[in-house]
Amino acid sequence: MTTATTRDALHILLLGGTTEATALAERLARMKNVRAILSLAGRTANPAPSALPVRVGGFGGVDGLTAYLRQEKIALVIDATHPFAAQISANAVAACAITGVELLAIERPAWAPIAGDNWVEHDSIEAAVAALPDEPQDVFSGLGRQAIPTLCRAPRHRYLIRVVDPVDLPDALAHAETVVSRGPFRTGEDAKLFADYDIRYVLAKNAGGAAAYSKIEAARQLGITVHMVRRPDLPPRPIVASADEALAWMNERHHLRSDLGV
Ligand SMILES: NC(=O)c1ccc[n+]([C@@H]2O[C@H](COP(=O)([O-])OP(=O)(O)OC[C@H]3O[C@@H](n4cnc5c(N)ncnc54)[C@H](OP(=O)(O)O)[C@@H]3O)[C@@H](O)[C@H]2O)c1
Repeated sequence: MTTATTRDALHILLLGGTTEATALAERLARMKNVRAILSLAGRTANPAPSALPVRVGGFGGVDGLTAYLRQEKIALVIDATHPFAAQISANAVAACAITGVELLAIERPAWAPIAGDNWVEHDSIEAAVAALPDEPQDVFSGLGRQAIPTLCRAPRHRYLIRVVDPVDLPDALAHAETVVSRGPFRTGEDAKLFADYDIRYVLAKNAGGAAAYSKIEAARQLGITVHMVRRPDLPPRPIVASADEALAWMNERHHLRSDLGV
């Protein structure tokens, strides 16, 4: 275990791309005995502003991340990536094991169906898309930009695809439209969107958290079937559920000091 004294700053690599990472970055930036850097994959054109210095782009697999941890003398990696960002999370587990660097993951609890939900759960995006009916349907995709090639396997449907940045759709998706919007989203607005487009099916990843839950609530209100993709399996690692819990975990071990008395 590495314990920071008041003289030695604790060097932290925060793997981001989520609201939890943005919230934690703000708190870490106020810590006196912390030197933290936020790492983003570089997928979005205008990422949320960060209170921490930011580095952008992949490390180059496990080897690249291992080299980075050594070069920057990182003592703690906080994996606050999205629950579906399985590759970088597995790389973080491997690189921390190789270097002996401490690792903590922030993993929001998954959503669970409640009364009124009509979910069909799947182990992959491919399986969720394949489960849509043979007849063309009006389908809302909350699967993100990276799933667009998979939607092309069932091009007969009229997709409404929510994306963070504008995207050119492939010719195969002749009947698809995009809605460009960044969360957090509201249930009432999603319900109106689904009604306006006569949506019959929602494709979703079980992201958990509040920011993207509106589509699930809207589907419940309107009696729409949700094809829900379960989370990918990840190697075991220490986990907390929120930025607050991550700070408490760090305080226990490293006695962080905030200039705001937090
Ligand atoms: N997947 C989703 O549904 C989703 C949703 C919202 C936000 N995000 C965010 O978008 C980013 C990419 O997600 P993904 O699903 O494409 O990840 P992924 O499949 O797990 O990662 C693919 C590769 O991208 C690079 N990478 C990913 N996250 C990185 C980070 N925070 N900093 C530096 N490099 C990173 C790594 O490249 P190298 O191997 O070269 O290091 C990694 O091997 C993540 O930051 C994630 O939190 C993802």
